[in-house]
Formats: sequence, C-alpha cells, structure tokens
Amino acid sequence: MRITLTAIKADIGSVGGHIQPSRRLLETVLEYVKQHHRGLLIDFRVTYTGDDIAILCTHTGGVGNEDVHRLAWEAFKAGTDVAKDQGLYGAGQDLLKDAFAGNVRGLGPAVAEMDIEERTSEPFLFFAADKTDPGAYNLPLYLAFADPMYCSGLILSPGMFQGFSFTIMDVSHVEADRVITLNAPEELYDMAALLRDPERFVIESIHSRQTGEQAVAVSTTRLHNIAGKYTGKDDPIMLVRVQGAFPATGEVLAPFNLGAYVAGFMRGSHNGPLMPVKQNTGTSFFDGPPIVSCAAYCVHHGRLSGAVDAFDHPYWDRVRQKVSDKATEIRRQGFFGNAMLPYAELEYGGIVQKLKDLDQRFQLR
Ligand code: F6R
Ligand code: MG
Ligand code: MG
Repeated sequence: MRITLTAIKADIGSVGGHIQPSRRLLETVLEYVKQHHRGLLIDFRVTYTGDDIAILCTHTGGVGNEDVHRLAWEAFKAGTDVAKDQGLYGAGQDLLKDAFAGNVRGLGPAVAEMDIEERTSEPFLFFAADKTDPGAYNLPLYLAFADPMYCSGLILSPGMFQGFSFTIMDVSHVEADRVITLNAPEELYDMAALLRDPERFVIESIHSRQTGEQAVAVSTTRLHNIAGKYTGKDDPIMLVRVQGAFPATGEVLAPFNLGAYVAGFMRGSHNGPLMPVKQNTGTSFFDGPPIVSCAAYCVHHGRLSGAVDAFDHPYWDRVRQKVSDKATEIRRQGFFGNAMLPYAELEYGGIVQKLKDLDQRFQLR
C-alpha cells in the first residue's frame, strides 16, 4: 500500500518562556485534528518537544497535500487562539503569514514528509529537536548512513552494500530550493566538505541506491529566510525509515550519543551539545540545551502503532549526564569564541544594530 507520512511542527506558544506548551494548548491542537481529520487522515499523533508541537499523520494524499497542510495550519491557528487566551509566551510565533496559501512550507511551520510503499512491516523513527536548526541532523545522518564505523549494516547487510544517496540543500539560497545529490561511499569527501557547514548545507533526504526507496526526510526551512528577521531557530523534525534495506534503529540512534555541538541554544545564537531526551521534554538550562526526541513506530495500512520512546532507556541517562557536562563546560566561556555563533548567524535583533553602530566608529590609521 502506498501511503504518505507527514510531520508538521510549529512553536505556537509556551508556558514560562520558550519552555513547553500548556496542556490546554496541546489538547486543543489534538482535538482540532480529531474533529477535522475524517476522510483525510488514516491516523495521527500530537506530541511536543521543547516549545514545539508536532502533528505526525498518515494519509494517501501524497507529499505537499493541500488539505493535509491546511488541517495542520488550522489546528495550529486554533492552538494559537488558546495560547493567546492563556497569555502564553510567543503565541503563534511560527505562523509567520496571515493566510494559508496551499502549503505550510514558506509559512513558518516545519515539514518532513515522504511517500512510501509500505513494507510488510514498516518501522520508522520520528525525531523532533528544539533550540537548534536542521543542520543538527547532518552528522548523525552521515554517520548512520555512510560510515561503517557507526553503521555495521554497511558491511554486514547485502541490502545496503550499494550505499545511499544524499540530497543536500543550500539553505542560504532564498529565492528557490538549491540542492545537490551526492552518492556515498564514492563521494564521501565531497559530502563531508558540505556537511561540515550545517548552517548552510543541510541534508534534506536520503535514498537507498539499491532500491531507490526514500529512507529520510528532514524539515529544511530557514525561518529567517521567511520572516526576513530572526524569529527563533528552525527546530527541525525528521522521519527515518529503519531496518531491512535501511540502517537498523540502533544504528540510527547510535551517533546521537556524541552530543555533538550544534547551533541554537539561548536566543538561537550559541553552540550547545545536542541532548537526546525522552518525548515531551521541555528545555531549561540556558534555554536549552538543544534537545532531540525520538519516537519509534510501526505503520501498517497507514495505522500507527503506539510509540516507543527510543531515548527512554538507562543507556541514554549516562549520555544525558555527559551532554550536561559538555553544556556546562562550553557555557563557562560565555560569549567568547565558539561558545557563540559567528556574526552571520546572529540574526537576533539588537546585536546586528549594535555592530553596525560600532562599525561607524572605527577609524583608519
Ligand atoms: C526561543 C529561544 C529562546 C529565546 C529567548 C529570548 O525558541 O531559543 O532562547 O530566544 O528566551 O526570547 P525573547 O526574545 O522572546 O524574550
Ligand atoms: Mg520558541
Ligand atoms: Mg522551539
């Protein structure tokens, strides 16, 4: 059976700062989808990670389906009304345009979706991150899909011997989607040359070269390309199919134990380690650290199983401690050097003006 997996997420307001949505807000989004999904969706789930609410759904309408996108948009609008009513912080923050225009892409919410031919058993992972941007997934995906040091399937499982193709987007390009497709393993060095710069080059999708099937879809929006000014980091979501011709669940999860430093954290202007957290976790220390959750599902005839929380396991407790230590350590150097992002990423209001003003005061000697 051919189905579409669609995940759409938005920050539409939260309690106590940019921490996590209120229960009523979550319930409103869930209730809206419940009331309006008939004839459109096969199944759906509503979850949050940090201050972002995600709607994960299955249907047969294909990628970019107007009705599915409209439903998500309207659900977030209904949530925004509640967020405003409750006086939540940042109410409607990611709904950057007033009216729905056929597709939520370009309107603020982040989207990850793919059309798939459902396998007899179709396990997949839904990742949601907060206080970081889509490039945060570059390294874990590279390691899981292209590096036999992390993905033993690349040397053990004949279904993966031909490797994977990576479609990478240049998110600095505002006018149109600028993408390149590179093949692993032959073009690993070219891939590395791009992926080393996650603020500019972002993995958008990955396909099996053996079967042509899509394995990964990442939300690649850049909010400040839409809004023209800083409106928060782009808090990315991602769908990853696993097992069989794809890496095993554990091979995809493994690289998240690095707690690699990513852009985001406080005011979207710092570097911090990406912490794998349990689902429905908020943020805290220094509006962070950047967090990522992972819900594992099976989908059958479009029906979603209950989710298994992939990072809710004793193994990850130790990783979280290590990541907390990394976060504390980099925060000790405050604004200095790599602790803060370079100028081009500091879209946050005031400092750009401050640097412009200071620029006028420089003198040539
Ligand atoms: C938002 C975020 C936060 C805010 C910070 C300041 O997702 O990353 O770190 O940037 O809390 O928020 P404002 O400027 O809204 O007071
Ligand atoms: Mg926010
Ligand atoms: Mg967020």
